[in-house]
Amino acid sequence: MRVIEAHGAIIPSVGFGTIWLRDDVCIRSVHDALRLGYRHIDTAAGYLNEREVGEGMRASGIPRENVFVTTKVPQAELAPGVFERCVENSLKNLGLPIVDLLLIHWPSQKVPMPQTIKSLCDAKRRGQARHIGVANFTTALLDEAVALATEPLVTNQIEMHAFIEQHKVIAACRKHGLAVISHAPLARGNALDHAVLKAVAERHGKSPAQIMLRYLIEQGFAVIPRTGNPEHMKENFEVFDFALNADDMAALTALNTSQMRVINPPFAPKWDS
Ligand SMILES: NC(=O)c1ccc[n+]([C@@H]2O[C@H](COP(=O)([O-])OP(=O)(O)OC[C@H]3O[C@@H](n4cnc5c(N)ncnc54)[C@H](OP(=O)(O)O)[C@@H]3O)[C@@H](O)[C@H]2O)c1
Repeated sequence: MRVIEAHGAIIPSVGFGTIWLRDDVCIRSVHDALRLGYRHIDTAAGYLNEREVGEGMRASGIPRENVFVTTKVPQAELAPGVFERCVENSLKNLGLPIVDLLLIHWPSQKVPMPQTIKSLCDAKRRGQARHIGVANFTTALLDEAVALATEPLVTNQIEMHAFIEQHKVIAACRKHGLAVISHAPLARGNALDHAVLKAVAERHGKSPAQIMLRYLIEQGFAVIPRTGNPEHMKENFEVFDFALNADDMAALTALNTSQMRVINPPFAPKWDS
């Protein structure tokens, strides 16, 4: 199992994303992913599937300590008191006393950053999260959060794939020793038929999705692709039996200028690029 490390957190490089997976599909998918070898599951209070994620984990029979589970506190639940209740509910829904990683899902303009980061650090100190971090933070927000944190932040989970340019925020993550976890690593499937991706895929006898994931892993990022399709689930996990060369990496990096940001809700911060 390939892992990335940051401030003591050991994060499996390939995780399983669960947004939009609901009910039995979610239970079965989490179960199948773990049986297949995935050891990193990404959920969030906002995905309304923590109960099913927990059920899938238990049904898999994989020992709890072998699975790295992430959940997130929504932007609307960062206020003091509300934050604590949200974390308690997440743990209750998952059926777990502690998660491996607790993230701020999106930065807020309403709750002051010192308060948000204090609540996050307190959750770790209360023993509700082994590690803490943020998601969708810009360079400026990251600098502020790291300066305020009294416990190490281990990651900034950000949108990363070949069709987006994120060099400033990645440099900020590296400066602070944070792991980059790539969300929407397949750009939600929007550009898997791109000619460059297909050409690299053909050269390696792999699928465009596998090339995209390997491109990110090659840069030291973790990836959390989501699928409800068993074939895709298997494919997305089989990304270590080949390697991309410098020409492949350069061709894929040239696609970054497309700046195709697929996760950009109205409440997003002002991005670095
Ligand atoms: N922190 C945040 O704000 C944030 C934001 C977005 C996402 N996330 C996390 O990141 C995870 C992944 O992002 P995402 O779910 O938005 O998008 P994604 O993983 O980039 O793409 C999912 C889409 O790709 C398709 N797909 C998956 N594997 C494929 C394959 N091998 N070949 C072809 N198509 C494939 C899926 O369809 P099929 O089901 O048909 O395979 C689905 O439509 C989420 O599930 C969530 O856990 C976090």
